Parts: sequence; structure tokens; C-alpha cells
Amino acid sequence: MFQNSKRMVKKLTFKNPSKRDLLKEIKEEVVNFKESPLYNHRTDNKFFPVIGEGNHDAEILFIGEAPGKREAQTGRPFCGRAGKILDEMLDSVEIKREDVYITNIVKDRPPENRDPLPEEIEAYADFIDRQIKIIQPKIIVGLGRFSSHYLLKKFNLEKEIKPISSIHSKVFKIGNLKIIPFFHPASAIYDQRKRDNLVDGFKIIKQEIYK
Ligand code: URA
Repeated sequence: MFQNSKRMVKKLTFKNPSKRDLLKEIKEEVVNFKESPLYNHRTDNKFFPVIGEGNHDAEILFIGEAPGKREAQTGRPFCGRAGKILDEMLDSVEIKREDVYITNIVKDRPPENRDPLPEEIEAYADFIDRQIKIIQPKIIVGLGRFSSHYLLKKFNLEKEIKPISSIHSKVFKIGNLKIIPFFHPASAIYDQRKRDNLVDGFKIIKQEIYK
């Protein structure tokens, strides 16, 4: 476990904190997360961390991998090419982007756009765990294998950890919460079949909201 004590946590003090306050607290902590293995890469490149954006009361929480270049340049999740696909998918089932919450398991961009390392996922895990607790979504969609596998492990569904092609758009119920692993939108940029799989998967998400 990455120890919280390894982070210099600058706690904000709020009386009866609202969701907004608690999410702001996370933002401050990520911004000041100098112990992060990705902090120097962030500052050397004048990148921003990407905390997440959307409706604090969202029924659907989308969790991607880590910011791409465009995201790190702007501080906004899924605003580059993968984001365009995500927007298309949301449009296809008439879900408004402002009604959902979108974030990543790793809040800083890894060098050379490489996959996040296990120690990076662990370093940022406390933030995503708290975001889930604060937002309390009904549905969490893992975009890509890293966030999908993270979620299955977190919710004690280790035995379901399989290649993403075997679990894409499967619905796992944990009490009132539904976890839905998904292909990463970036995988559909040049792959029409993946795009079709994503469209079908979004229909499942839409149905699950009303179940
Ligand atoms: N890919 C991700 O996983 N997250 C982003 O925010 C952008 C691209």
C-alpha cells in the first residue's frame, strides 16, 4: 500500500463539508502531491494534473486510465481524441456529458504516453477511492483494462479479472452499485468493430440506469 503518510497532506478544514468541498480537498492534495512518481514529469512539461469533472451527484461515473497529452495540457479529462469518441458514445444514447462525472485512476500523465505502472496506480488509489465515496454513483464504468481491473479488485471481484475483451460491457452488481468494464475509447479510434462494441455497450449503460 502506498502510505498516505508518504504524502504531505495539506488538509483543508471545512465544517460539514459538502461534496464540492470534499472534491476540492482532493484537488488540493493532487496538485500538491510532490511525492508522486509522476510529479516531476508534470512540472518539467508544465502539465496540469487532471482531477475530474462533471456532476457531483452523477449516477454514472466514468473512470479512464491516465491523462493523455491534451488532457495534461488543459487539466480536463477526455478532451482529446479518446474524448471525442467518448462524447460520440454519450450522444448516441442521449446522455449529457454534464450529467455524468469523468475522471481517471491516475491523475498525472505518464511519460511517452505509456501505460500506468502498478506503483503509479497505487500512489493515486486513495483519490479515486474517495471520489467514488463522495459521488456515490449507481454505475461505475471502467474505461480500459487498468481502471476496469482496479474496480474489480477493489470490489472483491478478483475472479472476474479477465482480458477486457471478455468482460466488456458485463454488468457486475455489488449491492446497489453496478460496475461495468469497458474497452478504452482510444481503442476505437481506428477500429470500427470496437466502435460498434462501444455503441452496444453504451446501450447497456443506458438500460442499467433505469433498472
Ligand atoms: N485517456 C484516458 O484514459 N483518460 C483521459 O483523460 C484521456 C485519455
